[in-house]
Amino acid sequence: MRITGHTKLLGVFGDPVEHTLSPFLHNAVFESLAMDMVYLPLHVTKESLKGAVDSIRVFEMPGINVTIPHKNAVIAHLDEVDDQARAIGSVNTVVNKDGRLTGHTTDGEGYMASLAEDTGFEVEGKRVVILGAGGAARSILYSILKRKPDSVTVSNRTIKKAEELVREFGALFASAKLIATGLDVGKRLNDCDLLINTTSAGMLAKTEAAIDLFEVSNLNKDAVVSDIVYRPLDTPLIKKAAELGLKVHKGLGMLVHQGALSFELWTGTKAPRDTMMFAAIQSLEVS
Ligand code: ATR
Repeated sequence: MRITGHTKLLGVFGDPVEHTLSPFLHNAVFESLAMDMVYLPLHVTKESLKGAVDSIRVFEMPGINVTIPHKNAVIAHLDEVDDQARAIGSVNTVVNKDGRLTGHTTDGEGYMASLAEDTGFEVEGKRVVILGAGGAARSILYSILKRKPDSVTVSNRTIKKAEELVREFGALFASAKLIATGLDVGKRLNDCDLLINTTSAGMLAKTEAAIDLFEVSNLNKDAVVSDIVYRPLDTPLIKKAAELGLKVHKGLGMLVHQGALSFELWTGTKAPRDTMMFAAIQSLEVS
């Protein structure tokens, strides 16, 4: 990598931020497209968030990614926020246009693009079960509801959180059929077209899966099983679904596609997703 007197700085604000894979993805693209830019992990505490946002203007950064725990708090410091980010209450991408900072969210649309690429699944008219009711579930649920599914069941360990999410999004999408349940989804999977895990269950050495894996066999043979966890690439849920011969959608694609959409917002240039995927796989091996 060559740093010059013109090199533009980008990065991700987070706390913790040292495990982020985003620098691998973006720096690989800058290199492949010979763009004079560099992307760094930037450790930003809650107390320093405002100062960090000001620095986007000070250093004339084209933009920034925002991750945990700042996706909501950053909104108060921006000049403008797009409709989807406002509704979800989450910004993962900030664009700096001549000192004016706009907030966007690419998580949900990145997820949808990756799902379509890997499985060709179309949400309209379909029955979806989402496991989890946290930040990732919010982003994905919003993008799913935009595409007019038949119904969405939000299943969460803490049922109250699923009920709150269903109530809130039910008000935004008046005609949507939304159901809140616990994680005992068993029978519901009989008529489910897409099962999505948005919980951290399955990640590294944590709990095997959010649901009893035995229940996955209740899905019909055309159902798609999707897991946003990418460490490991093949989670116990993905392995089980593949064993049953179901179509699967793994988590790394969402990371790549949300990053690609951020890059496109910053630069107006089409992101080479293959380059990003290659970098993502390599980075998992070294991180
Ligand atoms: P994220 O931004 O990644 O979605 P989050 O907002 O903290 O993170 O949400 C984590 C989600 O994973 C929640 O739905 C959480 O369930 P609770 O609301 O009951 O806490 C879910 N989750 C985390 N670990 C889990 C586990 N071992 N089994 C089932 N659900 C789990």
